[in-house]
Amino acid sequence: MKGLILSGGKGTRLRPLTHTRAKQLLPVANRPILFYGIETLVDAGIKDIGIVIGDTGDEIRAAVGDGKAWGIKLTYIEQNSPLGLAHAVKIAKDFIGREPFVMYLGDNLIWGGLRQFIQEFQKTQANSLILLSPVEEPQNFGVAQLEKGKIVRLIEKPKDPPSNLALVGVYIFDQNIFEAVNRIIPSWRNELEITDAIQWLVANGYNVKPYSITNWWKDTGKAEDILEANRMILDEIKTDIAAGIQNHNSQLVGRVVVEEGVELTNSIIRGPAIIGAGSIIVNSCVGPYTSISRGVTIVNTEIEFSIIMEDCRIIDFPSRIRNSLVGGNTTLCRSTSRCKDINLILGDNSQLFI
Ligand code: DAU
Repeated sequence: MKGLILSGGKGTRLRPLTHTRAKQLLPVANRPILFYGIETLVDAGIKDIGIVIGDTGDEIRAAVGDGKAWGIKLTYIEQNSPLGLAHAVKIAKDFIGREPFVMYLGDNLIWGGLRQFIQEFQKTQANSLILLSPVEEPQNFGVAQLEKGKIVRLIEKPKDPPSNLALVGVYIFDQNIFEAVNRIIPSWRNELEITDAIQWLVANGYNVKPYSITNWWKDTGKAEDILEANRMILDEIKTDIAAGIQNHNSQLVGRVVVEEGVELTNSIIRGPAIIGAGSIIVNSCVGPYTSISRGVTIVNTEIEFSIIMEDCRIIDFPSRIRNSLVGGNTTLCRSTSRCKDINLILGDNSQLFI
């Protein structure tokens, strides 16, 4: 069985963060979201993986490399334009060959592994197995309608959802999906939808099995989803303090990961939390549920439930920073002006609540 990870597309809902980086490379507990997907496939025994890349392909290649870090054979598949998930399948045909494959959306995180799911596909000899999970806002997903446990209809982002069962971004297909993706036409958003291709399989009598998951799963399409994923992953970390860090009168409470070269002075780090390499924290409270990337400086500031990306400087910030996602190399400081003015340099689509 091969693996196909979709890591092209545009992260419009995550702007401004995705003006400068691929959405699949946004960090959760200081590691790119995409790495968790690769590891999920590797843990399920899949060693031959293709990654579909688009405009941000160079960045994805630089982060993931040749796959040796995971002991896998890696093939990059270039998609010239984000024409849809089914289009990504079309252009992966040469890579897939005649094997069944797991398709994994590179911005999804799923708990608990895929082994059972793959075993079920092999046992039932289905043409396709799709994962389903109940969600609160089914109109934002592909939605399945079941009758007596069988799929009768699949519809992408319906205005009037027939159920609350969303298609999770993990699918298994056999060869027949290649005929399906050639038979469908673009949707209202001008994409070849994988949901329509699976619907074509259902309508043409192929065996498409639903598989309901109870484990936690997240499509990290929006900022609040990334923060929730960060909380979930941090909940699993074990304390790990790098040798040689400098700790001047600081307290580490609960499960905390501190990477090499960190300096902590008169601060409290409340786990679960992770402090990235070379960061400096002075007179501050960090955590819980906070990921600080490498090279960050935090002085006289409180931060919780947040992700602070690399090389940020947060100094004398007057309010507690909470539920925030701060992009790399950002400066947040108290104004030194005597008037109650505020000086801003914010990129397009930034958000500021004070
Ligand atoms: O997360 C589950 C949902 O994912 C499903 O319920 C939907 O049925 C499915 O269509 C998909 O919806 P999204 O709107 O969330 O898909 P998105 O555009 O975010 O793309 C998912 C991944 O695929 C993401 O990593 C980007 C990548 N992609 C996307 C497109 C449109 C590509 O590699 N190429 C593309 O052409």
